[in-house]
Amino acid sequence: MSQETVKILCVGDIFAKSGMLALEHYIPKLKTEYQLDFVIANGENVAGGVGITKRYAKRILNAGVDVITLGNHALSNIDIYKFIDSPLPIILPFNISSNKTKGKESIVVKKGDVKVGVINPLGNIFMEKMVTDSPFDRIISYIDNLKKETNIIIVDFHAEATSEKKTMGYYLDGEVSAVVGTHTHVQTSDEQILPNGTAFITDIGMTGPYDSVIGLKKECVLTWLVKKEFSPFKPSTGRAVFHAVVIEVDVETGKSLNIERLKLFFDFEKELEDSELD
Ligand SMILES: [Fe+2]
Ligand SMILES: [Fe+2]
Repeated sequence: MSQETVKILCVGDIFAKSGMLALEHYIPKLKTEYQLDFVIANGENVAGGVGITKRYAKRILNAGVDVITLGNHALSNIDIYKFIDSPLPIILPFNISSNKTKGKESIVVKKGDVKVGVINPLGNIFMEKMVTDSPFDRIISYIDNLKKETNIIIVDFHAEATSEKKTMGYYLDGEVSAVVGTHTHVQTSDEQILPNGTAFITDIGMTGPYDSVIGLKKECVLTWLVKKEFSPFKPSTGRAVFHAVVIEVDVETGKSLNIERLKLFFDFEKELEDSELD
């Protein structure tokens, strides 16, 4: 690959079966349409809405994803302990509160002559119990390590607070190619190139069931929040929304030239019936 720029697709939290099927539907189409070089996708909700299994991880990778990022639900499905230390290109937040697994806290993937580094810190605000420390405390050392191999670095900042995410964008402006938010499952319309060349969006949004409360059946959440009665949460079904951004990065400098936000819909009732997924 000898080229001046690369195009990187970043997909927001893939939620359950409908998210998986929407991913499989759109990745090949978008690879052709945008001439994508790399694809990064957040898989923390793919297994029934909580966590990830090896079967789902392989399906995500087979769909054309190069790196799977996770989040606060990284370790929620115990299946992950069977494969997190494997060579699969899947990374964990470096500041997640758990000493149960090693896993990879960053990764560099290569295609042709071009390498892309990825890290996936967890936000501190509203998730204090899930983190070992603030993501601001150690992120520069991870970036410095990745810079030994490449100038093209994508940060999937998995955080709740919009303020913390924008602050991270400015903190890393000029240091990385992009800071893209995940976790809230709600896409924000603030995509931009920050003053020193870092692409930014507060949240990419979820890839999963559209008629839902952040992926869950609305009836379950209504029962819980309105009637104060617990109703087991189930993933919603039906029409899916695919949320992502396409970022174009200058290969030599690692600075971003453009960020485009995608919001695409997919109706697939038949595929849901035929699918063997959870
Ligand atoms: Fe999350
Ligand atoms: Fe999520």
